[in-house]
Amino acid sequence: MTEMRFLRQEEKDSLAQLFNNAYRVGLETARKWADRAGEPRTLVVPEPGRLASCINMLPFEMVFGGQSVAMGGIGGVATWADCQGKGYAGALMHRSVEIMHEQGYLVSALYPFSFRYYRKFGWESCGDRITYEGFRQSDLRRGEDSRLVRASRGAEDATLFVAAYDRQAAERYNGLMVRSHESWAARLNTLAEAGGHAYLIEEDDQPTGYFLCDHPQDSGGHIGLRIRDFATNTPRAMRAMTMFLATLPANVETITLQTAAHPTIFEAFLEPTVRKLLAPGFQFRVLDVCGAVAARGYNSAARQGFTVHITDEHGPWNTGAYEFDFGGGRGEAKRLPEGVATDFSWSIQQFSQVFTGYRDMVQQHAAGLFDAPSAATAAVVRDAFCDRPTHLMDFF
Ligand SMILES: CC(C)(COP(=O)(O)OP(=O)(O)OC[C@H]1O[C@@H](n2cnc3c(N)ncnc32)[C@H](O)[C@@H]1OP(=O)(O)O)[C@@H](O)C(=O)NCCC(=O)NCCS
Repeated sequence: MTEMRFLRQEEKDSLAQLFNNAYRVGLETARKWADRAGEPRTLVVPEPGRLASCINMLPFEMVFGGQSVAMGGIGGVATWADCQGKGYAGALMHRSVEIMHEQGYLVSALYPFSFRYYRKFGWESCGDRITYEGFRQSDLRRGEDSRLVRASRGAEDATLFVAAYDRQAAERYNGLMVRSHESWAARLNTLAEAGGHAYLIEEDDQPTGYFLCDHPQDSGGHIGLRIRDFATNTPRAMRAMTMFLATLPANVETITLQTAAHPTIFEAFLEPTVRKLLAPGFQFRVLDVCGAVAARGYNSAARQGFTVHITDEHGPWNTGAYEFDFGGGRGEAKRLPEGVATDFSWSIQQFSQVFTGYRDMVQQHAAGLFDAPSAATAAVVRDAFCDRPTHLMDFF
């Protein structure tokens, strides 16, 4: 059996050596990563004279149905190159599910190097992104709404960014992280120090959106503008952002805009044929079925219930039969006695996709991919969980 324990304070340098060997990022960056590690968030596999493998479990909150849910973010999964393939990272992944559950996290998310690898441990693809790649100012519609945009004055505007972001997190998507006022002030400072720009969109003096721009240069020295973090809470706010981009100076040669897969923003372009890349963004897992279902918010349209059997190899406390019930914007998953017949079955990966609103069971049923007893049962599942598209903009 693989020996595992929490990182000790005096082992930060060993951890930096491990990060540098696994990721080849240089010791300076590896030391910065190691500085953020520690008990109870870093689990390691020790070997004589070094740490062979590690995993970080980072404390976050994600918003689902307008309510925040405790989320353990998996990051920094690494094994020395000459120790790989011995099952070290796999043992850490398995143990992380138990530890995060013990520590009270209800769900977990990660950015995968391989979707196949993390699927084995219960995480599943739960959010797609569209990157509108390398378009020009002249590809975009122009218009008066661009005047709603103003450059941010920095951290003193943090309250306005918080308001625009929080509204988007509560009303428009599932999966966005909770961001504090302090984290916003730090984010704006870091962006400014790196030469980026933050813009607010205001309608009648109220913040209805924002966008953060950085300026990557390619090997030929061409200047680009990239937006991966924005909120547009009204149709005018969306037009304001894209119409403002149409007015950028001509030395900005390419624009890249990353959005959730839904809704698309094709109408912002004169012709919708600009290059787009559709790709899965992150993987997600429910750690505690009963806790996560109770913590999440629901539309008041979600009213009826269903019964389901869930199987979770790495979180056996989740395996069993449930009765789900919804009403008044709340949900409950009640355990049923073992052996009770249920309407259908889900793996924890399937349930995780449903929980986030990523998987529409009515579409699945129509395509013959969901063995619910009827289209009506599929509609009950959709009414409960498909309340918003999924999106995650924070990296960890
Ligand atoms: C990914 C990593 C942590 C795995 O560590 P490990 O201790 O070798 O993991 P395990 O022994 O538990 O598992 C090895 C499995 O990963 C698979 N694997 C390794 N690299 C892979 C890749 N790039 N794509 C797909 N699968 C990969 C192996 O084929 C093996 O599969 P198997 O279990 O079906 O035989 C290690 O390869 C590493 O440190 N890589 C560099 C850093 C990195 O990318 N970290 C992940 C960030 S999300």
